[in-house]
Amino acid sequence: MRIEQVADASEGSSRAAELFALLSSADPGAPLGLATGATMQGLYARLTTQGFRPRCSDIFLLDEYVGLAEQSPYSFAEEIRKRFSDPLGFQGHTHVPGQGPYAGPDGNARFEQILAERGPLSVQLLGIGTNGHIAFNEPGSPADSRTREVVLAQETLTANARHFPEGFVLPTRATTQGLATIAQASTLLLLAFGPSKHEALRSGLSTVSTDHPLSALVDHPGLIIITDADLGN
Ligand code: GLP
Repeated sequence: MRIEQVADASEGSSRAAELFALLSSADPGAPLGLATGATMQGLYARLTTQGFRPRCSDIFLLDEYVGLAEQSPYSFAEEIRKRFSDPLGFQGHTHVPGQGPYAGPDGNARFEQILAERGPLSVQLLGIGTNGHIAFNEPGSPADSRTREVVLAQETLTANARHFPEGFVLPTRATTQGLATIAQASTLLLLAFGPSKHEALRSGLSTVSTDHPLSALVDHPGLIIITDADLGN
């Protein structure tokens, strides 16, 4: 594990874009693992301005809400289309947990199978929730968890409501890659900026427990954390 401390989200997003491009260039044909949320927006914007062009045929999303309309503007798939695929000219296959060929009773097993066949991912982007969730692996998620449908924690629903219009009834369930699924990637690039994430980061790094999903990944040799938290204290 490597921790890079930066001054703020802006510097961190620039560093993350530089590392993402470098890590993906190690094996340009290897699929990429993409995350969503406010933290990733600065990174994707910098990849766009830097003219990054993905050369892989497949990208995999970490997670997706259950029950949103197919073309909902609030889905993670739409967010990736808007912030990554369209601006970067990606025209390959976008694999979304729980959606399309991965819906239905065997969908999660199929997602895991395709990921195993096309992978490993050269780099998997990760954020962290204020309650410590990784993707939608909420506190209590086992380290050996795989792609599955989960019930979202109230803290997650409260935090994510900002990405929806006032009064929108948020989905309470999602399909997420599991922690063991995520750990299959060659490198994990985790971004955590702002005081609301510092405690979750510190807990995940200091206490091995299912209460802190990050702790399942701290022994991953390719884990790189970029944060404005001062973890020295
Ligand atoms: C979302 C996503 C996570 C993301 C986290 C933080 O619910 N499932 O993948 O890392 O919450 O999001 P944000 O960057 O908007 O704080």
